[in-house]
Amino acid sequence: MKAALCTSFDGYQSLDLADVAVPEPGAGQVLIRVQASALNFADSLIVKGKYQVKPPLPFSPGLECAGVVEAMGADVESCKVGQRVMAVLDWGGFAEYALATASDVYPIADNLDFTTAAAIPVAYGTSHHGLIVKAGLKAGETLVVHGAAGGVGLTAVEIGKRVGATVIATAGGPEKLAICKEHGADHLIDYREGGVREKIKELTGGLGAHVAYDPVGGDLFTETLRSTRQDGRILVVGFASGHIPQIPANIIMVKNITCIGYHWGAYRSLDPDALRASFAQLMGWIEDGSLKPHVSLTFNLDQVKEAYEALLSRKSTGKVVVKIRP
Ligand SMILES: NC(=O)c1ccc[n+]([C@@H]2O[C@H](COP(=O)([O-])OP(=O)(O)OC[C@H]3O[C@@H](n4cnc5c(N)ncnc54)[C@H](OP(=O)(O)O)[C@@H]3O)[C@@H](O)[C@H]2O)c1
Repeated sequence: MKAALCTSFDGYQSLDLADVAVPEPGAGQVLIRVQASALNFADSLIVKGKYQVKPPLPFSPGLECAGVVEAMGADVESCKVGQRVMAVLDWGGFAEYALATASDVYPIADNLDFTTAAAIPVAYGTSHHGLIVKAGLKAGETLVVHGAAGGVGLTAVEIGKRVGATVIATAGGPEKLAICKEHGADHLIDYREGGVREKIKELTGGLGAHVAYDPVGGDLFTETLRSTRQDGRILVVGFASGHIPQIPANIIMVKNITCIGYHWGAYRSLDPDALRASFAQLMGWIEDGSLKPHVSLTFNLDQVKEAYEALLSRKSTGKVVVKIRP
C-alpha cells in the first residue's frame, strides 16, 4: 500500500511516499481501508518526536480517518466488514490502510461523505467532552474560544452555541472571524489588534467570561486569566502559539478560577464510555444540522507536505483533509 512515511524525527518536510505492507489486525484491532484522513496540529509534533506519543520509526502520521472496515481481529464484535466508519488512531492515517483499536471506531451515516467524516473525531470529540463534561459549560454562560477559526476552535464555537452559551470568538484577522460568525459566534475579537482582555470585559459587563477554551496559549493565556470571571473555568487545550504559559497561583486563588488541564486522547482509555456517549450526541447534532463540519482545504496523499504547510502557515480554517483515495 502507499503511505506517507516518517523515517526520522526531522519534521514533516522529510515525509516520503513509500510502498509498505498492509498491516494485519491483531486482537482488538480493526483494519480500515482509508478514504480520507484529517490533519491535526499534533501531526506536526509527532513527526518531530515532540508529541505525547513517540511511535517507533518508520511510521505514518495521521490521527484520525474515515473509510470502510476491511478486516478485524477475531475477537472484535463491534464492527462489520464493509461498514463505513470514522476512527481515532494512535497514528497511521496517511496511508491506504490503517489499524485502529475497536473502541476507537465509530459507524457513520450513509449520507456522510468520507472527507467530512474524517474531520470529525478529534476536533469535535475534544470540544464536546472538554466543554460539556470537563468544563461543565451551561446554557446562559459566556464562553470565550481562542483560535476560534482553527480545527478545535471552530468546533468549540459551534458546540458552545448548541449548548446555549453566548460565544465570544477570538482569531487572527477578519476573514477568520467571518468563518467564526458563520458558525454561530455572537461576538468577534481580532487578537492581532490587541486589547483582548479589555474587549472581553466590555462584552461581559465588566465581569469576564464564565468559561474560556484555549488551544493557543502564550500571551493570550495571560489575557484569558485576566478576563475570566470569579469562579470561572479555563480549559487548557493546547499551545498552537508554541509558548507554554506559566499559571500564577495567586491569580487563580484570588479569583477562584479553575484551570482544567485537558488531554482528550487520554479519555480513550480513561473513560471510553464517556467518549462513546459524546460521539452519539455529536453525530445526532451533525445529522440534525446543528453542527456543520468545516473542511477548508483538501489534498491528495502525494501532497501531504502541502497539507502540513497550509495548516502550519495558518492558511486553513476548520480542518485540512488528505484524500487518500479518489
Ligand atoms: N488537549 C487536547 O486534547 C487537544 C486536542 C486537539 C488539539 N489540541 C491542541 O490544540 C491546538 C490547536 O490544534 P488544531 O488542530 O485546532 O490546530 P489548527 O487548526 O492549526 O488551529 C490552531 C489555531 O491557533 C491559532 N494560532 C495562534 N497562534 C498560532 C501560531 N503561532 N501558529 C499556528 N497557529 C496559531 C491559529 O489561528 P489564527 O491564525 O486565527 O491565530 C489557528 O487557527 C494545538 O496545540 C493542538 O495540539 C489539543
